Amino acid sequence: GAPVEVNISKLEPGQLIRVEWRGKPVWVVRRTEAVLKELPALDEQLRDPASEEEQQPEYAKNGVRSIKPEYFIAVGICTHLGCSPTYLPDSFGEQVEGVTSGFFCPCHGSKFDMAGRVFQGVPAPLNLVIPPHQYLDDANVIIG
Ligand code: FES
Repeated sequence: GAPVEVNISKLEPGQLIRVEWRGKPVWVVRRTEAVLKELPALDEQLRDPASEEEQQPEYAKNGVRSIKPEYFIAVGICTHLGCSPTYLPDSFGEQVEGVTSGFFCPCHGSKFDMAGRVFQGVPAPLNLVIPPHQYLDDANVIIG
């Protein structure tokens, strides 16, 4: 499939846009400062906080799994059986106490943080997949 170019200049903090790449949903999320502060504190609750079990691009091998901390780009498909998790920007606390935002899979209840890292005690075995991507400039990113 062809690469997909996404303009991120209008993305507000907390907002998610969804594009399609190779027939899959890909999310581009602008993380808030609050979320970025929250992420490093979650390690204990995650199955694979450093994404050691993941195949992922070199530039996503860091605590936020992204090139630019503010922008998170992931394939929006649960690593359990392939449903698309729901983005809960404000109400994720109902799923994981004390955590503001995250992704919840309605099919069997898997939970992922704002870096797509899976929480412990849910069926999904792996963190969300990070697709290959690169920034053309401050406003445009190419997926694929
Ligand atoms: Fe997401 Fe099963 S497909 S939890």
